[in-house]
Amino acid sequence: MFKNLNLIALIALTLVFAGCKRNYLLESPDTRLEVSITVTPAGEAQFSVKKDLKPLLNTSLLGLKLWEEDWTHSLLLKEVTRTTHNDTWLQPWGQQTEVINHYNELALRFKNRNANDSHQLIIRFRCFNDGIAFRYEFLGENDSLQIIDEQNTYRFAQDPQLWSIPYNTPYYEGLWQKRPLSEINDTVCSPITMELPNGTYICMHEANLTDYGAQNFFTDTTANRQTELKTYITPWSTGVKVYGKWGKMMSPWRTFIIADNLNELATSNLLVNLNEPCKIEDTSWIMPMKYMGIWWSIHLGYHTWSQGPNHGATTENMKKYIKFCAEHGIKGLLAEGWNYGWDGDWSGEGFKMQFNKPYPDFNIEKIAEYAEQNGVNIIGHNETGGWTENYESQLDETFAFCNKYNIHAVKTGYVNPLLDGKELHKSQYGVRHMRRVVEKAAEAHIMIDNHECVMPTGLCRTYPNLMTGEAVRGQEWDAWSVDGGSPAEHLTVLPFTRQLAGPVDFTPGTFDFSNPKNPQTRVHSTLARQLALYVVLYSPLQMLSDMPESYDKHLDAFRFLEQVPVDWSKSYILDGKIGDFVVTARKDRHSDDWYIGAINDEQARELHIPLSDILDNGAYHATVYRSTPQTDWQDNPYELQIEQAELTKTDTLHIHLRPADGYAVQLKKNSTEKL
Ligand code: NOJ
Repeated sequence: MFKNLNLIALIALTLVFAGCKRNYLLESPDTRLEVSITVTPAGEAQFSVKKDLKPLLNTSLLGLKLWEEDWTHSLLLKEVTRTTHNDTWLQPWGQQTEVINHYNELALRFKNRNANDSHQLIIRFRCFNDGIAFRYEFLGENDSLQIIDEQNTYRFAQDPQLWSIPYNTPYYEGLWQKRPLSEINDTVCSPITMELPNGTYICMHEANLTDYGAQNFFTDTTANRQTELKTYITPWSTGVKVYGKWGKMMSPWRTFIIADNLNELATSNLLVNLNEPCKIEDTSWIMPMKYMGIWWSIHLGYHTWSQGPNHGATTENMKKYIKFCAEHGIKGLLAEGWNYGWDGDWSGEGFKMQFNKPYPDFNIEKIAEYAEQNGVNIIGHNETGGWTENYESQLDETFAFCNKYNIHAVKTGYVNPLLDGKELHKSQYGVRHMRRVVEKAAEAHIMIDNHECVMPTGLCRTYPNLMTGEAVRGQEWDAWSVDGGSPAEHLTVLPFTRQLAGPVDFTPGTFDFSNPKNPQTRVHSTLARQLALYVVLYSPLQMLSDMPESYDKHLDAFRFLEQVPVDWSKSYILDGKIGDFVVTARKDRHSDDWYIGAINDEQARELHIPLSDILDNGAYHATVYRSTPQTDWQDNPYELQIEQAELTKTDTLHIHLRPADGYAVQLKKNSTEKL
């Protein structure tokens, strides 16, 4: 009898619970950001976002469409839980040493009136001072599920300017387009960056993409909603977006960095905070470093990957590069085209690649020995031509081969529009493969530089052997592109778009801009700009992409590349405007020295940068690398002035940038100050 009464009460309560609109507020720790989550009487979950009480996102829809069930309507709210978290963790390498992970969390657990009773969905929100995120978690009993799409619909309160690259851009290697959100009528890749009329910046992306298709965004033009974006998950060739199991999976976090200025945008740790803590117990073998490569000479057409009279990766050539690296303190050297598989159509027939069989003119024993004697680390190259099955079948032997020859870093590559002739790189298929490679590499103590990769999502927190990735139109395009080379503006956009996703292997450092075999294109840059890029761009494996003979011509400028670190304790954007210019300052992780780099687009510019925001008390010895009034990126790019000065925090840098220019300064803390 009592049991029945309880049951009736429970049913009544559930009906009341389901029948009225329920609203939950979640604030950031500093209370400036507010997420409001609503469950409507029809069983829809919605959310909106405000900053300083001003709306950013109006009522926006959540939910998913599965092949088996619809989780957009008929949701029955079962439980709401709240937690809060505050800790600080240390990155083994990074743009900063310390990361504060402080958030408030709200999780809503749902059943679904129209779904299998054992299935439940959690929508979990986290609200940080620098942004918000949510994800879907699938609770249940191991039944299969297929995601047709997430139904997230983001309704913006204003019409921001938006930077994006189109969905179909191969390997994300495109120029970023700036448009008002209301003019987006296509599908674009994630991340996207927005500048609101009031100066707020929002970067939408995803964190912890582990076993899921990568996210994209589109506008539903038929719905006439001009400032609305929807989610489009990259599909398999079957059309299904994600295969999974109830009880075994969750979506990546859907992230929104929300920043008052460009410094907050570029230095946000939202993505890494939303990934799992480091799974590698001993990270002492993970070593950020600069590296050179038998590489640019191949892209310029002087050498080949394949065998023949101009083969690049020969024992002799490797020794020449090793000697140069050793003389200049460059710790890494990449060899491309060293293994069987490159002859013929290496991209179309990547299944012929043999990852532990060197060409006869590449004597790995001798090279490894010479590299070790000279303190240089060989970086292996595994170009798969997109044939992941072939690569995976050789992975154990390949990493054993690397270990045998003391190779602790490998650049992977997937040049082919499809993986294994069928799936997209950023589909769940590609995501799974690339994750497997990183995990196996971690076991074998190998660092990964992933080219033609899925856009990074902060996974380097969990696997810090995942050092860097491409997913960018890098400097290699300026060796052979048919469109004249990337405009100078491109590099002023990257710090606020691509680089927000994670370290970027852009491969800067061109010191010779001539390109006789491809005269239609070139690097749009002065020499000073090439130096500044080592501060503006961030990659813990950072390439010095040109050839020894090019660096030999400008050894005075090369000194900056010898000295500039790749691992930082602090990083700041001191000034900038997306697409126009950027001034970045970083503090060396292993000294008190600071480095500042400024670059611009094709407009000359005067900047005045006070040092009071970054420097400590005391004197710094500054070495400034700047262009002269005669420097011209097209006709006189190498003219460079190197000045010495004693500076303190009361000084201001006066920076004159010529078109497509740069400015770099090293500020060495005077050691006598410490006495
Ligand atoms: C494209 C990569 O981005 C480049 O760095 C590499 O040299 C070629 N693929 C060959 O793997």
